[in-house]
Amino acid sequence: MMFKEVNNESEMKAFGQSIGALLKGGELIELIGDVGSGKTTLTKGIAVGLGIKDNVQSPSFTINRSYEGRNHIILDHYDFYRLDKAGIMNNELQESIANSDVVTVIEWAGVVDEMLPIDRLSIQIASPTETSRSLVLSSGGFISGQIIERLML
Ligand SMILES: Nc1ncnc2c1ncn2[C@@H]1O[C@H](COP(=O)(O)OP(=O)(O)OP(=O)(O)O)[C@@H](O)[C@H]1O
Ligand SMILES: [Mg+2]
Repeated sequence: MMFKEVNNESEMKAFGQSIGALLKGGELIELIGDVGSGKTTLTKGIAVGLGIKDNVQSPSFTINRSYEGRNHIILDHYDFYRLDKAGIMNNELQESIANSDVVTVIEWAGVVDEMLPIDRLSIQIASPTETSRSLVLSSGGFISGQIIERLML
């Protein structure tokens, strides 16, 4: 477990960037938090850390978006907001997760929770004030555990 406080949007992005910089491909990150808590903002930072130049946009309407970063790493960003089942996206999601070149980031993962591997980095975001955010990072296995260990160095 790791706790992280950020005071504003740019600190959130910077923290995302430090996560992204540690990723090698094959990781799964689940973002948990209310509307406006900063899940997409954090993902924008992760993208920067992955060397992605494109502007990451919320995939709310398309469910997923894909970006290419450094070292042929792909970021697959999913958002299952208001979906009651993953449906056809489940195949795509399983392919993303199984691909060792892909970093998979999921917002609103509730609907696919039971299908996700245990070894994932879960980041829970609470919003104590308008601009501050409290993050709790937890890992389910070795790969996600290493991300937290390195972040704490
Ligand atoms: N510390 C902070 N970190 C992130 N966002 C912040 C922070 N302080 C204020 N904000 C604002 O909160 C909003 C976060 O929006 P964002 O789209 O990242 O949230 P989200 O969790 O992805 O929401 P949704 O569930 O709708 O996808 C932005 O408008 C941003 O400017
Ligand atoms: Mg979002």
